[in-house]
Amino acid sequence: MRISLERLLAADRVKSFMREASGAAAELRVTAQPVVGSIPVRLPEGETAFLSRVVSLSGIESGFSAGQRSEINAKEVALKKSAAAVSPVETATELSLIAVALGHLFAYEHEISDMTQELSSLYEEITLLYDLSSAFSGTLRFEELQREAIRQIAEALGVKRISLLMLNDEKDGLILTAGLGIVPEDIGKLRFSRGQGLAWRVIELNRPMIVNDLSSAPDYVPGKQSERALLLSPMASKRGILGVLTVSDKCDGSDFSSKDEKLLSAIAHQMGSVWENARLYRETRELFFNTVEALSAAIDAKDPYTHGHSRRVTEFSIATAEEMGLIGEKLERIQISALLHDIGKLGVNESILRKPDKLTNEEYGQIKLHPAIGADIMSRVKNLVRFIPGMVDHHEKFDGTGYPEGLRGEAISQAGRIIAVADTFDAITSNRPYHENCRGKPAAIALAELERCRGTHFDPDIVDAFKRVFLQGRIRADSDDDGGVDDRNGKSKGGNGLRS
Ligand SMILES: [Fe+2]
Repeated sequence: MRISLERLLAADRVKSFMREASGAAAELRVTAQPVVGSIPVRLPEGETAFLSRVVSLSGIESGFSAGQRSEINAKEVALKKSAAAVSPVETATELSLIAVALGHLFAYEHEISDMTQELSSLYEEITLLYDLSSAFSGTLRFEELQREAIRQIAEALGVKRISLLMLNDEKDGLILTAGLGIVPEDIGKLRFSRGQGLAWRVIELNRPMIVNDLSSAPDYVPGKQSERALLLSPMASKRGILGVLTVSDKCDGSDFSSKDEKLLSAIAHQMGSVWENARLYRETRELFFNTVEALSAAIDAKDPYTHGHSRRVTEFSIATAEEMGLIGEKLERIQISALLHDIGKLGVNESILRKPDKLTNEEYGQIKLHPAIGADIMSRVKNLVRFIPGMVDHHEKFDGTGYPEGLRGEAISQAGRIIAVADTFDAITSNRPYHENCRGKPAAIALAELERCRGTHFDPDIVDAFKRVFLQGRIRADSDDDGGVDDRNGKSKGGNGLRS
């Protein structure tokens, strides 16, 4: 990096050297242009400045008191004579030595300035990568990762355009999945077939590439927007190359440097690792959901009369929760709790579950144990513990008369209150052995029951939300599917006659 003469002269080490070398009666000056009697001084990067010596009275003046200053003028003549008495050869030799020493000092200052610059740019790089890794650390969804990476790249590299090209599953095409300054309609559509364009070249070479003049790049495939320079870096995980990160044209018009290449490559590397984590997270999540669904199907399979009950209760609960504005983890909590709400029935005797007749008090007592049995089963699986409240509370009632704990109002988990409404609706509308002719009742009867028990059995707000989604057509009663209509209300000995 070029450093100006002014900056070299302003350095503390240079100022102190010049002061000491000057002496009291003379002053050393460095100028960009030669003056009479000046000696050239080598500046870093092959340039030259000029060192000269001028007689000065400033050092002498300071040695006199204020009262003696009037004599200075008289002495000036004598001092100038004394300075002039120094042999010109001697002055020139002395100046040459000083010039050489000064040249070394300038070179040293230049080197320090370069190192400082390099350190500061390294610091910027490390800070950026640290920010990036902090931003990525909480990201397990690839869409979020893409957004964050693009924001950071735009900030760090100052480029006009960013494109993220991901390999398709068949590994024979690169698809544009995200970017900045690109044509939005191209996302998901723009595709480079195997071997087409510079991005494929980067994949083949498996290393970053800079092309500062695209007109001279034979593999370049021009896009809709004209561009002059490209910097590309492969993005890879442990499993191999995932895609190519591409940036084009710096906003300040400068060429891409090896520093830019290093930075983009580091970002691509980070993205690859986070992508791998996101993939593992997605797969683990899918495995978890599949396991929960399999468990839920096993519960329903134990009692053929309640076939599909857990699935329907889950659908109704999710629709109600969404209507109530629940999203993300809260919605997921409702989903898993609903899928497993009857898991405790795995521990209830099948003869009771399958009994077509009304239950005895003792049998009903057995059925009522299923939330507690469910809690016991779920407490053995670390990942299921947080879903226990939603499951165990689904037979609690808003007025505190439910089971197993007799909880009241909002002491009942929100998931439990939502599932209670969905569960009752499905128990009334689906085919059950204890219903007249085993047929489910019409939705209107179930809705009337929810309304009748609004505020006693059920949370009024949740009943309202459920009714709204029903009216929107997002909830469909099981009895609507097979036309099972029966308006007679078969009561069992226990509770409201519903074995939900
Ligand atoms: Fe239940």
